[in-house]
Amino acid sequence: MNSSLSIPSSVALVWRSQWHALQAHAEQLGPRHLSELFAADPLRGERLQAEAAGLYLDYSKQRVTDETLRLLLELAGACSLEERIAAMFHGDKINTTEDRAVLHVALRAPADAQFCVDGRNIVPDVQAVLERMAIFAESVRSGAWTGHTGKRVRNVINIGIGGSDLGPVMAYEALRAYSRRDLRFRFVSNVDSTDFVEATRDLDPAETLFIVCSKTFSTLETLTNAHAARDWCLQALGDANVADRRVVAKHFVAVSTNADGVAEFGIDTAQMFGFWDWVGGRYSMDSAIGLSTMLAVGADHFRSMLAGFYAMDEHFRTTPLHRNLPVLMGLLAIWNANFLGASTVAVLPYEQYLKRFPAYLQQLTMESNGKHVTLNGARVHCATGPIYWGEPGTNGQHSFYQLIHQGTRLIPCDFIGFCQALNPMPDQHGGDQHDLLMANLFAQSEALAFGKSADQVKAEGTPVAQVPHRTFEGNRPSTTLLAARLDPYTLGALVALYEHSVFVQGIIWNIDSFDQWGVELGKALAKRTAAEIASGEDPELNHDSSTNTLIRRYRRQRVPCT
Ligand code: F6P
Repeated sequence: MNSSLSIPSSVALVWRSQWHALQAHAEQLGPRHLSELFAADPLRGERLQAEAAGLYLDYSKQRVTDETLRLLLELAGACSLEERIAAMFHGDKINTTEDRAVLHVALRAPADAQFCVDGRNIVPDVQAVLERMAIFAESVRSGAWTGHTGKRVRNVINIGIGGSDLGPVMAYEALRAYSRRDLRFRFVSNVDSTDFVEATRDLDPAETLFIVCSKTFSTLETLTNAHAARDWCLQALGDANVADRRVVAKHFVAVSTNADGVAEFGIDTAQMFGFWDWVGGRYSMDSAIGLSTMLAVGADHFRSMLAGFYAMDEHFRTTPLHRNLPVLMGLLAIWNANFLGASTVAVLPYEQYLKRFPAYLQQLTMESNGKHVTLNGARVHCATGPIYWGEPGTNGQHSFYQLIHQGTRLIPCDFIGFCQALNPMPDQHGGDQHDLLMANLFAQSEALAFGKSADQVKAEGTPVAQVPHRTFEGNRPSTTLLAARLDPYTLGALVALYEHSVFVQGIIWNIDSFDQWGVELGKALAKRTAAEIASGEDPELNHDSSTNTLIRRYRRQRVPCT
């Protein structure tokens, strides 16, 4: 094992003492309100910020002092964060439980960069796939690529799940303003047949191209949907009884690391876009898994997105920790989760195009850091992986913000906003609708931080009985990310920011942020249960009494399809 991956006991000791120092500091800081921190330092809002790759990070409304940051940075030092960052970029096998390098950063590196896996520079392989993607995307976008009957492609359906779906659908929605409007994009992920049926019901198979995305090409949901798609195409365009290769060749491409699986399904591997085991599924939207993104926005915009990723990567790799955006975000997440007791993070983009961003982040953050054992296999001694969730502003304001403002739980928020609208429109008063949107963002973070005291409420002439109900305690922490405009470059930088922030948190917790063993047990049980459900005989069920009863009841009431 690489020496940079094992934690010497001396480091564990320093870690523990830093941790205790932070606990003591949190107790001391406890009673101090954000209003007090701002009053004590009139320049706080100008000081506690950092900027990189077009993203401005204001963390002054987090419940931290200079001392908090100093202690957090010391903790990072105790965890050898800088060495760990270097190890990732160096291609060390930091995904120890799968014995893999973690090199999604190589996907967005310039052509003359070098990233080595087992002594071999992988950048030329990455660039070659990007080139093939660009040629294919251009042929579809120009109409040169036609379906089996000679019609041009009007519909693109991405079939995949998890990282093979959430990245593509998020990026498509985020960059819709830059996309070809004469191409229709849909995303099928769920094994619930409704997903496929609804995605295809109004489409002509002759004009439809399927991108089957699966790193392993063995995922039940994706293979089931891919088979449904093939049947749907063959019924209309070929012979449903024989896997008609000519139809499949014109209507299916695959993205995978598993060439054998792709060939076995019936897609010619010449129509497969590869990636590699050193790219985790949830870190793959900028690999060939992003083929639908490139089809939607074109190769130049895709390259611009990669440039945004790369700018943030370089910032992360080279910037001192105290000015490093992903490091600051990661350490603040640790502070909130482990020292202020917050178990969730609300992600609140004030940008409609980012409506799937919280869902995308859920896999990125929770599949990465939802772990209860350390790299050494010991049980972790603190909470890991906070729960990420959210909705675009201002919709959330009329739904769950009540709880964030006045509930009993501490919910740190990430506000994300842009200075320029992609669809500017005047409001009914002759103002600008985007100004209204952004006024809401700024107002929410202000209200959360500073609240409204009982005295202020009373002074407004509020009936005494209502005062407690109308009082806002404030002191609710938030971070605001502000950028000029949502474009491909900024999206890349934003995603890389969260990717690396997740990495930082994983380093502090000393967990493997790149495996996902926790999804396996459910998959295995589902296989066994599916066989029992399908069984013609009354199967002998050896589950617990609840599961046995549920399966029996389901078997009695189900209506099998013919
Ligand atoms: O089940 C979890 C998972 O393995 C994710 O990590 C992954 O993104 C998803 O399934 C899909 O996997 P694949 O791309 O191999 O189909």
